[in-house]
Amino acid sequence: MKVTLSVIKADVGSLVGHHVVHPDQIKATSEKLRGARESGLLIDYHVTNVGDDLQLIMTHSKGVDNEEIHKLAWDTFSEVTERVSKKLKLYAAGQDLLVTAFSGNVKGMGPGVAEAEFEERVSEPVVIFMADKTEPGAWNLPLYKIYADPFNTAGLVIDEQLHKGFTFRVMDIYEHKVVDLHAPDEVYDLLALIGTTGRYVIHSIFRRTDNLLAAVASTSRLSLIAGRYVGKDDPVMFARGQHGLPAVGEILEPFAFPHLVAGWMRGSHNGPLMPVPIRNAKCTRFDGPPRVAAVGFQLNEGKLVGPEDMFDDPAFDRARDMANTAADYMRRHGPFMPARLGPEEMEYTTLAAVLKKLEGRLKPVE
Ligand code: F6R
Ligand code: MG
Ligand code: MG
Repeated sequence: MKVTLSVIKADVGSLVGHHVVHPDQIKATSEKLRGARESGLLIDYHVTNVGDDLQLIMTHSKGVDNEEIHKLAWDTFSEVTERVSKKLKLYAAGQDLLVTAFSGNVKGMGPGVAEAEFEERVSEPVVIFMADKTEPGAWNLPLYKIYADPFNTAGLVIDEQLHKGFTFRVMDIYEHKVVDLHAPDEVYDLLALIGTTGRYVIHSIFRRTDNLLAAVASTSRLSLIAGRYVGKDDPVMFARGQHGLPAVGEILEPFAFPHLVAGWMRGSHNGPLMPVPIRNAKCTRFDGPPRVAAVGFQLNEGKLVGPEDMFDDPAFDRARDMANTAADYMRRHGPFMPARLGPEEMEYTTLAAVLKKLEGRLKPVE
């Protein structure tokens, strides 16, 4: 059967600053999605959170960009904002709902979306990754390693179905353009783009033998929608695993290295992406360091069998230790680049207003 997996997330307010979703928000969201499952709109759902981001994981048979599904997500976020976030005076209530009225698709309205329709295989493992205090470009490095680096993914070398490689669909989020690049033959071109994480982001990945969808990610940049800083874009992404695709362990492997990503404190700093279980997916130190959590499911006729909390494992303790060491190192730079982001990235933050005040005082050099 064909199933659509829609992961839609938004920050609609949180407990103690930008820290964590309140249990009442999870409860209200679950009630709303339970109703949608009972009415037949959804096949199944799972509600979770990573830090201050509320995550709706939904399966259905309506395809991508479906108005009913997107409206359900929008209504859920709006109702939770009104009924819970505002009532409890949670911080930044309704933060990511950038417009007042729904207009057919939540993309471009604030929430982040990773969704795809695919034929459910005989057995269909999926891993959903959700990050807090970072941006969609944070997935570029791990996705490259999973689908193009044989030192990460043994299957690229020893499994016939992976051996031809993968096609990366890369989006220029400033110009709104996409390009398909094929690995392994075009990896240098691919890296030339995706190394610029603030601009070129991987949208989706396909297996070259048959164009099977392997992974899909969210690509929204709130600042580009709103024209000003309204919080980072805390991205989501999911990958299908096994049987001619990277194994679940190959999909998780890149996160054993906590690479530096943009988005820490005020969306203005680079920091290590720490892999954590859901219970530790809450940012503290300097509003971070940025976190990634992953939940795994087996799909069963669209039903979500799981979740399994994939980073709840001592095998990732070293990555967490390394992330803490890197966090110490980065913090000692204070407000200096490259701990603080470069000027292009700071353009949409509150720094712009501060710099404006100095404009009149800048005189030509005699
Ligand atoms: C939010 C975030 C935080 C905030 C910071 C200041 O996702 O990254 O680091 O930017 O806490 O928030 P305000 O300006 O709301 O006081
Ligand atoms: Mg927030
Ligand atoms: Mg967040």
